Amino acid sequence: MGVLMNISVIGAGYVGLVNAACFAKLGHQVICVDVDKEKVDKINQSISPIYEKDLEEIIKKYKKNIYATTSYKEAVEKSDITFICVGTPSKKNGDIDLLFVDQATKEIAIYLKNKKSFHSVVVKSTVVPGTTQNHVLPLLEEITQKKAGVDFGVGMNPEFLREGAAVYDFLHPDRIVYGYYDDHTKKLLSLLYSDFSCPIVETSLTVAEMIKYASNCFLATKISFINEIGNLCKRLGIDSYEVAEGIGLDDRIGRAFLDSGIGWGGSCFGKDVNALIAFAKEIKEPCNIIQSVVQVNEQQPLRLISVLKKHIPLLKGKIIGVLGLSFKPNTDDIRDSRSIILVKNLFEENAQVKVYDPKAMNHFKKLFSDIIYCDNAKDVLDADAVIIATAWDEFKKLDYKGKIVIDGRRLLEAKKTAKIYEGVCW
Ligand code: UDX
Repeated sequence: MGVLMNISVIGAGYVGLVNAACFAKLGHQVICVDVDKEKVDKINQSISPIYEKDLEEIIKKYKKNIYATTSYKEAVEKSDITFICVGTPSKKNGDIDLLFVDQATKEIAIYLKNKKSFHSVVVKSTVVPGTTQNHVLPLLEEITQKKAGVDFGVGMNPEFLREGAAVYDFLHPDRIVYGYYDDHTKKLLSLLYSDFSCPIVETSLTVAEMIKYASNCFLATKISFINEIGNLCKRLGIDSYEVAEGIGLDDRIGRAFLDSGIGWGGSCFGKDVNALIAFAKEIKEPCNIIQSVVQVNEQQPLRLISVLKKHIPLLKGKIIGVLGLSFKPNTDDIRDSRSIILVKNLFEENAQVKVYDPKAMNHFKKLFSDIIYCDNAKDVLDADAVIIATAWDEFKKLDYKGKIVIDGRRLLEAKKTAKIYEGVCW
């Protein structure tokens, strides 16, 4: 059993709350800080303000170990380590916006100034390499008038959580990465994670930050790579998934993230890939591969439209059904979803668009009000052709009633009941 600690977590959003709840489950005392009073109240009533598998159950079961507040004072004074888990949204040019990180850092610093015992501040938010060392640390020193490494500690501990599997990923990580500025913080983090059996990477603040970016960029690269191979396969009339099996057996490559389709979306890949591109530009380094990864991803949904046009050359006035709006199944998140590009393009072709998604329709309605939202998947089939854009389980079981089905997510089951079935890369 590892050493139990008093932990504070700034930001009860997706990353903050999952971390807070999981630390509580491991037996630590956790204080969550959020500016949103409503969120704070919900957490204190053991209600999760966001949906994530198993999260609410943990908050309920370990309610003695977790509580939320709007007070930074309480959080800093009553804990030994503070994790900054606030959002780092993208600016228009792709740069990350450090506004929330700055706000959190300044608030922590105010109470760190008068704190007698040693306290470590650990950045968990995804920030571009160099941010913790060159931005957060000096800001803490300036406001506290104290010396980092002597009077307080600094660390950087990226997360690699997938939406929908975040609790599982926290409890069963492939690796844990933390950067430290001082030995005290190194010791604290090593004790905090001592019960985990996975490899632990102890490194500098900037390496930890770069590991996070490089991981997400590499995963996005794998997908864009297999999509490019998939496009070649399609021209050859061969199945890109057979090719993926064949290359994935090489240990150096691995089969994961080689599912070709209409590309990646979500809250992380696009943001992180673009932030690294913007960072590279700033320091005048080329970023050719990563730039191409984005280009391939933007083009990939259009391949699906081309496949559709093989069967219906003129989309004007035709009714096209789109099954799936979320960026992946089992979430209502439509951020960077390929369905957005698909629907936009169908619109530009003057097609009539009908859509259905089990969870994401309300979010989509905020973007597109002029399309038909169906109450169920069956109603989408009343169309000239149907596109599968998200791999929801229920679309596997659907009777496609002899329709033209163009699949962006490899639901081969659709073949059985479609008149014409074609995949984007198979
Ligand atoms: C991702 C990373 O996996 C996670 O480690 C990081 O912390 C945050 O970003 P997430 O955004 O939840 O997690 O989504 P993920 O499950 O990784 O899928 C990302 C996108 O890639 C989805 O749109 C998915 O459909 C697509 N994808 C994934 C493929 O097109 N092919 C694949 O082989 C794998």
